[in-house]
Amino acid sequence: MYRHIRPAPAPRVLTDLALAVWEDDKTPAACYRTLLPQTLDAVAQAMKRPEFATSGSVATVYPPGGPVQRVYILRLGKPEKFTAETLRLAMARLTKLSFDAKVTSLHVDLGDVLGDKLTPEAAGRALGEAATLANFAFDRFKGAAQEKPRKPQAELKLSVPPSFEAGLRHGLTTGESANLARELAATPPNVANPAYLAKYCQTMASEVGLKCTVIDHKQAAKLNMGGLLAVGQAGSTPPVMIVLHWPGKTSRPSQATQPLLLVGKAITFDTGGYSLKINNGMLGMKYDKCGGMAVIGAMHAIARLKLPTPVVGIIAAAENMVDSAAYRPNDIITFHNGVTCEVTNTDAEGRLVLADALSYGISKYQPQAVVDLATLTGGVVVALGGYCAGVFCNDAILREQLMSAADATGERLWHLPLWDEHRDMMKGSHSDIVNSSTNAGRGAHPIQGAAFLSYFVAPGQPPSKWNHTRWAHIDIAGVADVKESSALYASGPTGYGVRLCTQLVETWR
Ligand code: BES
Ligand code: ZN
Ligand code: ZN
Repeated sequence: MYRHIRPAPAPRVLTDLALAVWEDDKTPAACYRTLLPQTLDAVAQAMKRPEFATSGSVATVYPPGGPVQRVYILRLGKPEKFTAETLRLAMARLTKLSFDAKVTSLHVDLGDVLGDKLTPEAAGRALGEAATLANFAFDRFKGAAQEKPRKPQAELKLSVPPSFEAGLRHGLTTGESANLARELAATPPNVANPAYLAKYCQTMASEVGLKCTVIDHKQAAKLNMGGLLAVGQAGSTPPVMIVLHWPGKTSRPSQATQPLLLVGKAITFDTGGYSLKINNGMLGMKYDKCGGMAVIGAMHAIARLKLPTPVVGIIAAAENMVDSAAYRPNDIITFHNGVTCEVTNTDAEGRLVLADALSYGISKYQPQAVVDLATLTGGVVVALGGYCAGVFCNDAILREQLMSAADATGERLWHLPLWDEHRDMMKGSHSDIVNSSTNAGRGAHPIQGAAFLSYFVAPGQPPSKWNHTRWAHIDIAGVADVKESSALYASGPTGYGVRLCTQLVETWR
């Protein structure tokens, strides 16, 4: 993050101002008529220029005379195509432009331009999220070869009309938590190992009022977490299960309910193990911890927003490495719930650490519902690309709530199937199950991952009872990071899942 953004009251004298127009508008909307005539006139003149017509762009106008230095015009495109994401993209561009111009006080006034397309609360959120997300830069490891020494830039005071203020604050909060997840995700594997993540969570938890417990490898052995231990047994530091607790803030303590459970895959580096990844398949595998980082970010946001619903977040952290201690293909391991698995591929490691996290979390906390996030399969990237994550869900209510959360946050989801036939694909001959089907090969790869995990959502139940716990598995391999920078996301991790999970918890009924 290279600049602090602070929500501020509108300054008495506006110097830098942003307003919004639709693609076919010829003049600024009536709600802006309180602006100075020369400011309005400059905007109206600019709107006539042909180069101004690009939808989604932000134009800068320099009105003559008067205190207003710059008017930024957010072009929102066609009203019928408008979504909150349109506003996020425009706000991200505006944030960058205002930084380039070294603006220190920016007032964004959408007036009543959005009509009934988005409430002021939702629009405020979109503005806050976009400003923060666009503000992210991972420069912690920039060194002596930089031309200019890095110096902190002045903070940006961001103001909006009163009806947008609560939303703006909310958006800045969830955006900051997403950036926290991105900062961790980008931290290289020689620094961000399981021990580092555990320590980080303990510090962060005490700062925001979460409780953090760390199940170390010795306790994990007592709890029969054979999956976590096998994957992490050649890691540079031993594997850990990090548990973050949010008790929920309710005015009616008698209403205290079972928590929601968030589970994240945090493989701090995935070499593939003995089923080694080839060539450049290994580069970028520091992002294999993004599911876990999304859970850390979501818990951070949930605590800062003091949400009423109790939530437990479990981060299964291990490093999948190769040495003489590493686990092998053909190893048979026993998980926390007693299910056994023959390892057919050491590169299908995420499901092994998640299995113990799901089984442990569900048996210990008896959650109302469970959501896990994981960069689980390359197959989901082939199927869906980078525009949405794949979701598997055994419960219609949870699925609906997730879909609405995806809609509200722009962290998109696409529903994929999981049937008993898929679960049968994972059956083993010398063990209960295998971690990668030897018969199906790469067929239905993302579904194999989900089918494997389904054996761990009903602890102590025969496998046929897997529908027992409300559960969603989100495969984020395609959305956890981006190669090319866009307005909202600099190349690197996106923090996908932080805003989605926070929204789910906030709207959970
Ligand atoms: N971490 C990978 C999945 C992945 C691939 C994430 C590409 C991001 C980009 C995962 O552990 C993995 O290696 N999955 C294998 C599973 C297979 C061996 C059953 C895969 O997808 O090929
Ligand atoms: Zn792998
Ligand atoms: Zn992996």
